[in-house]
Amino acid sequence: MSARTCFVGGNWKCFGSNQSIDALVSGLLKADLSNTSAEVVVAPPFVYLSKVKEALAGKNISIAAQNCWRESEGAFTGEVSPAMLRDIGVHWVILGHSERRHIIKENDELLKKKVEAALKHGLKVIFCVGEQLEDRKSKRAQEVVTAQLDACKEHIGCWENVVIAYEPVWAIGTGEVATPQQVQEIHSMIRRWFEENISSSVAQKIRIIYGGSVKPQNSTELAKNPDVDGFLVGGASLVADQFASIIRSTS
Ligand code: PGA
Repeated sequence: MSARTCFVGGNWKCFGSNQSIDALVSGLLKADLSNTSAEVVVAPPFVYLSKVKEALAGKNISIAAQNCWRESEGAFTGEVSPAMLRDIGVHWVILGHSERRHIIKENDELLKKKVEAALKHGLKVIFCVGEQLEDRKSKRAQEVVTAQLDACKEHIGCWENVVIAYEPVWAIGTGEVATPQQVQEIHSMIRRWFEENISSSVAQKIRIIYGGSVKPQNSTELAKNPDVDGFLVGGASLVADQFASIIRSTS
């Protein structure tokens, strides 16, 4: 683990009810995070953002939205703008998640506009990249990840407010975690991409986190990689004890 402040995000996806979220939040409030310096963020579904933000006030856990629109307002039925998220005190947004790329069919063209809009409105962005199983099988993982980074590079003025989440699609929600070697290989490639395309200083500072079936049983090993600066956690972030244990494993 590096000198960069670790970052652990909990992506709650489209899960939860008033009742289950109350229980999850109360578990998080009780969790002992005193020995970790990691920056922690949770991403509830839109409708619970304000409630979770209020409930976690004072716990040093920030709130992220799981998506946002590319404009600050307008006739875009069903969308939520970055300005609205800022208005309710949300500081982070996840963009480019593979479920949005592949199920909702968001492409690079739309994503770069979303990233630009989010940053312009003062949101920090967890930008997800990652290859699908067939890409890995055909040894195109690096090429796919590079293309996803290339697509948005002109649209990001300030990388300080960006965290990169490498999430191989075949490892998300499948229980099949990438090996520490596979993770380190792509993370160091991403850091090299920053070195070559942005600057050495950004390459040194940017947090590159891993997501895909992260659990308390595998997080300590993954966190030992020099270029792993934390995690984006799906399933295990819905269980307070597991999420807390993953956060502690980054210390
Ligand atoms: P998972 O999800 O931990 O359930 O695999 C990770 C993610 O989608 O961010």
